[in-house]
Amino acid sequence: MISGVQDWHPASWREKPALQQPDYPDEAVLEAVLAHLATLPPLVTSWEIERLKGQLAEAATGRRFLLQGGDCAESFDECRADVITNRLKVLLQMSLVLIYGLRMPVVRVGRFAGQYAKPRSSDRDTRNGRTLPSYRGDIINRQPFTEADRTPDPRRMLEAYSRSGLTLNFIRALVDGGFADLHHPEYWDLDFVKHSPLAADYEAIVASIMEALRFMETVSHARLSDLERVEFFTSHEALLLPYEEALTRPAPHRTGLYNLSAHFPWIGMRTAQIDGAHVEYARGIANPIGVKVGPAMTTSWLKDLVRLLNPDDEPGRLTLITRFGADRIEDALPPLIDAVRATGRTVLWCSDPMHGNTEMTGSGLKTRRFEKILAELELAFDVHAAMGTHLGGVHFELTGEDVTECIGGARGLDENDLDRAYKSSVDPRLNSEQALEMAFCVIRKRRRMDG
Ligand code: PEP
Ligand code: CO
Repeated sequence: MISGVQDWHPASWREKPALQQPDYPDEAVLEAVLAHLATLPPLVTSWEIERLKGQLAEAATGRRFLLQGGDCAESFDECRADVITNRLKVLLQMSLVLIYGLRMPVVRVGRFAGQYAKPRSSDRDTRNGRTLPSYRGDIINRQPFTEADRTPDPRRMLEAYSRSGLTLNFIRALVDGGFADLHHPEYWDLDFVKHSPLAADYEAIVASIMEALRFMETVSHARLSDLERVEFFTSHEALLLPYEEALTRPAPHRTGLYNLSAHFPWIGMRTAQIDGAHVEYARGIANPIGVKVGPAMTTSWLKDLVRLLNPDDEPGRLTLITRFGADRIEDALPPLIDAVRATGRTVLWCSDPMHGNTEMTGSGLKTRRFEKILAELELAFDVHAAMGTHLGGVHFELTGEDVTECIGGARGLDENDLDRAYKSSVDPRLNSEQALEMAFCVIRKRRRMDG
């Protein structure tokens, strides 16, 4: 297959060291699954992908803002109408708050319809003297600590493909069916606001958004939902490379090959080695791609990544998603901004204020504090402003469910609340109230900056 990218083909990653891959016990089953996957229709199209790339290019130059969010890991069990609807709802609400407060269009990208593979700090999990493979996400194995559950099963890739398709089908139907009709009062059920010292502020913002919607509709004689179709794009960590390869295809009338399993695949921090398989795979596909950038990143490594992943300085091609932790961002980010500047390439800078701020509670639960998440986000805005660059987006782990995984927020969740509804099998997510509150906090920060 001709790709146009030098010395690259969808399987060229196989010649490089591939971290975070499962050991499938049965090669024949693996080959059969991949051959089957390669015959199935794509989940997204190249024209949607190109449209997203155009919007990300606008975000890179400060004319649009990226909101990326969703579960740390989707689970097969949660491929359910209520879970999908609620997650979409909170992303839509957040995007409206951002559009209103930032006075610019927002590009909405979900961590959904394919976010099934997880990198782990260790390949093996030992409990009471017994060692089994680590749980790597539902596309690979199952969580319970038994040999049968933990053995990687390639057939789960077909299941992940199907559930991604089911999720995406429902999202597309909701969007087409007027899901974004913002007049439904339940979109603005802001009960939590009462608990916040900023209640009056939030209520005024919501009142202004409603007023603006009414005004738009009066002058245009159209429902807002008809004015601009609400769009959602999909993203996931492109971790399980055989799966990504099987969905990498040419597109009619276009040059290049696309990963048609998601609009916006990203490379995780643990697999961003310059000579590694994940970077090799990503360099050849035509999609916009993200790279997570954490405290271990060096200036020369980042320069190499930027040059390799965006050799032609294509607008919208590369997003750097930074995740240092509130305590480290001020030291870590400025030299990396300088390094990117030295490459002469334009990137979209996005802040993931979740992954650098994870801590363990006394009882051994992973959590994150609302105030630390917000602190990293505010510092990201400040550092970019001081360096003369734009923070063009935010990346959150969130759910539309009423979970208790992160500490803080208007309701003041504390450590003792976490047991009540801690559902994540991986990282702690903002619940719907905390997520919406975070959107309010972003615009409050922007307003303070703009004086
Ligand atoms: C994630 O986004 O869930 C993740 C694993 O992030 P990172 O690669 O930044 O650690
Ligand atoms: Co995570």
